[in-house]
Amino acid sequence: MTDAYTRTVQLATEFIENDDPLGWFEALYATANEDPTTVPWAKLAPNPLLLAWLDQHSIDGKRAIVIGCGLGDDAEELAKRGLQVTAIDISESAIAWCKKRFPDSLVNYQTADLFNLTFGKFDFVLEAYTIQAMPPALRAQALPKIAQLVAGQLLVITRGREPEQSLTTVPFPLTKMELSGFTQAGLQEVEFEDLNEPETVRRWIVQYRG
Ligand SMILES: C[S@@+](CC[C@H](N)C(=O)[O-])C[C@H]1O[C@@H](n2cnc3c(N)ncnc32)[C@H](O)[C@@H]1O
Repeated sequence: MTDAYTRTVQLATEFIENDDPLGWFEALYATANEDPTTVPWAKLAPNPLLLAWLDQHSIDGKRAIVIGCGLGDDAEELAKRGLQVTAIDISESAIAWCKKRFPDSLVNYQTADLFNLTFGKFDFVLEAYTIQAMPPALRAQALPKIAQLVAGQLLVITRGREPEQSLTTVPFPLTKMELSGFTQAGLQEVEFEDLNEPETVRRWIVQYRG
């Protein structure tokens, strides 16, 4: 376990126990002193699973939103591929960091909480590893919020688990039952890829249509 991961788990646990399950993101970024090695998910490169997906699929339409954009690499990749991208994160320090990293960016970076968005719908919605960072009770409310944004395609990249696997601390992998919140919210599942190789983290890449 790395120091960054230990610090993240401590912060998340403390905030969740204090009934502030989203407060730890700003606390983590604000105390990172712009050192990406302190943010466990910050790879300073687009998610390779997203890159592979984009190389194999086409996106219909131009308007895209990235939910929980972190340090912005996935949003930048979508903009590079010609999409008009809005990227939101609940952490103002994360958004300030994105703007500093990409001063000439075409991405519309905004500090915003998924639970209080006033945007309309988008042709392409990307959610990578944000739902899994929320405790289960909260994530059940997050799925319909994301579904509301989808006019065209939604791509979800997440850790997955079987229901009998217990949850300990962040990240909290999803079950298929939890993911069904998207179809219950009116989306249609069009593709489900289960990356479940031995000795690696189990990940799901799921595409929906609005
Ligand atoms: C585990 S990180 C993943 C970041 C990025 N998607 C990636 O793959 O590198 C989850 C991100 O979601 C953001 N986040 C969490 N809850 C959010 C919410 N309610 N609204 C907007 N962003 C949120 C966090 O600040 C954090 O940057």
